[in-house]
Amino acid sequence: MSKVTVIFVHADGREQLAKTEAGVTVLQLAHELGFELEGACEGNMACSTCHVIVDEQHFERLPVASEAEEEMLDLALGLTATSRLGCQVLLTKDLDGLKLYLPKAARNMMGF
Ligand code: FES
Repeated sequence: MSKVTVIFVHADGREQLAKTEAGVTVLQLAHELGFELEGACEGNMACSTCHVIVDEQHFERLPVASEAEEEMLDLALGLTATSRLGCQVLLTKDLDGLKLYLPKAARNMMGF
């Protein structure tokens, strides 16, 4: 099985390298590692608490976000031009070396 390496940058600026099998989402990986990325709706595109910011150098490597993802992202706190929902980014071999920033805060659209 091929491994995918992801570089996470925590809110305090700390960088952490993570390796995973291809086929998991950014949110699943973040949870496996115990990172602070909530994911309140468990990947159902109903909360935006899995918001991550993709490094500008890497953003074009990702498949384009769906309209539903874009709509939910509009509600995310601290939205940027390279924001994505972590539950919608599937880690594949093509994304090896992807760099992501974990936001300082998230807004939960599910109300809890
Ligand atoms: Fe809720 Fe991604 S986990 S939108």
